[in-house]
Amino acid sequence: MVSYYVQGLVLLLATLFSLVSAKVQYHHFVVQAVPVKRLCKTVNAITVNGQFPGPTLEVFEGDTLVINVVNRAKYNVTIHWHGIRQMRTGWADGPEFVTQCPIRPGGSYTYRFTINGQEGTLWWHAHSSWLRATVYGALVIRPREGIPYPFNKPSRETPIILGEWWNRDPVQVIRQAARTGAAPNVSDAYTINGQPGDLYNCSQQDTTVVPIDVGETHLLRVINAALNQELFFSVANHPFTVIGADASYLKPFTTNVLMLGPGQTTDVLISGNQAPGRYYIAAKPYQSAQGVAFDNTTTTAILEYESLVCPPRGVPKPTPIFPPLPVFNNTATVTAFTNKLRSPRRVPELPVLLEVEENLFFTVGLGLNQCPPNFSQNQCQGPNGTRFTASMNNVSFVLPSNWSLLQAHKFGIPGVFSVDFPAQPPVQFDYTGNVSRALWQPQSGTRLYKLKYGSRVQIVIQGTSIVTGENHPMHLHGYDFYILAQGFGNFDSNKDTNKFNLVDPPMRNTVGVPVNGWVVIRFVADNPGVWLMHCHLDVHITWGLAMAFLVEDGVGELETLQAPPIDLPIC
Ligand code: C2O
Repeated sequence: MVSYYVQGLVLLLATLFSLVSAKVQYHHFVVQAVPVKRLCKTVNAITVNGQFPGPTLEVFEGDTLVINVVNRAKYNVTIHWHGIRQMRTGWADGPEFVTQCPIRPGGSYTYRFTINGQEGTLWWHAHSSWLRATVYGALVIRPREGIPYPFNKPSRETPIILGEWWNRDPVQVIRQAARTGAAPNVSDAYTINGQPGDLYNCSQQDTTVVPIDVGETHLLRVINAALNQELFFSVANHPFTVIGADASYLKPFTTNVLMLGPGQTTDVLISGNQAPGRYYIAAKPYQSAQGVAFDNTTTTAILEYESLVCPPRGVPKPTPIFPPLPVFNNTATVTAFTNKLRSPRRVPELPVLLEVEENLFFTVGLGLNQCPPNFSQNQCQGPNGTRFTASMNNVSFVLPSNWSLLQAHKFGIPGVFSVDFPAQPPVQFDYTGNVSRALWQPQSGTRLYKLKYGSRVQIVIQGTSIVTGENHPMHLHGYDFYILAQGFGNFDSNKDTNKFNLVDPPMRNTVGVPVNGWVVIRFVADNPGVWLMHCHLDVHITWGLAMAFLVEDGVGELETLQAPPIDLPIC
């Protein structure tokens, strides 16, 4: 009880302080198609302010952002501020039909929110169909004035955004997949800061170059903005000191390779302690699913020393050194990497040590729907004449189309959703074994799970082997959560609770559920609203690998969702 009061007091003081020192930043985002030349072709790509990637937002912790988004594209759009907690400002979170109706072509909407208690790297992206393939940018949060970084101040900082590129309109790629029921076409390239790099056709001239100087410490803010692919990341001869992930600090550790799932960010320091020269920065797929097609190419940028003595005119610069990278299915490297993540200090007792009030168990995985009787063969081009699907606890999530969930909740509109998302899978089975075909077809629904304000929540997220096991990067909107443990096979509540890290579990907003394995997360439901939880592989969210929490208001204004903005789009 006492700790609640202390927490409340700290919160109040922090709020008062931020009111005093708060800065407000205004931005204008114009979403519109511009010609972009990649891989020997020019396509009309939808971007923000004509930039690709879009503008980097640089803020200080405590700042308020006011971003007016104007939609001049031909598709509906929304923007999501990935990882921002959006305390009481759920209306600004952005997922289409979850917290808002889409901004129609010609329309606009202003997102307003304050960044509190988060430092490091996040990002923003479109949250509508597959627009985020090209509509994304970095969001850098520095400590507020007078507060130092908890590590030696780097002399330079560079956002490194990993992306995924199609030679076609990505919205058409997913629409085609929705028609046929088959997996969507794989991408044509990965990119670093929008450029595929030297290993792709017609790309060498525009390869991203990152400068470094002898003796400097350089902070790389690595973001995986790829649509559907987990990626390994490395820089030749420059080991990383990892210092943060998803805008939470970590106990520093060194590694030669990172793995980031879509949605995740990792902040690393590198030292300019090598011979002045050129070194490849490279990313390539981590693919844990079996027997599926994927884009198995490698994107590169070049780390180049400023003191490199340039060869005379006409003589090419030296070829960069290439870093060793794991093979695409190297799960052991992924496990070793994620096991190194630790919070920098003991975490406060909430919610880790106290008894949890909501003990949830969610299965996540793919599925196959039988071809419906009124469908033609062309519409059932999944394995053996089926259609691909995906689900959590056997519910394949369907977005509403006439209201957003948050509007329906706040205005009491009936019939848009139900609050009967199951706390446990409806049937228990050997999740990672040879699953009976009878369990491959989920039910569809718009089912939410209701949480009381302030409840302490634990979720065991259990991957299934249905169709194929796969590492799923699960993202929760509106929250950061602690990751207590992970493992392979079926979670066993008798022995696996012994593996819980109750001392210094890392905090993130997106966690990779090991292939044919499980992960356990905890958070306190202290942010009222409707919050989507989904696999950040966009192909899986399209198939229904999602659910949403409805977190009720608490007591008083500070525990209550704010009133909706007057320009909130209606459907
Ligand atoms: Cu980064 Cu729901 O997304």
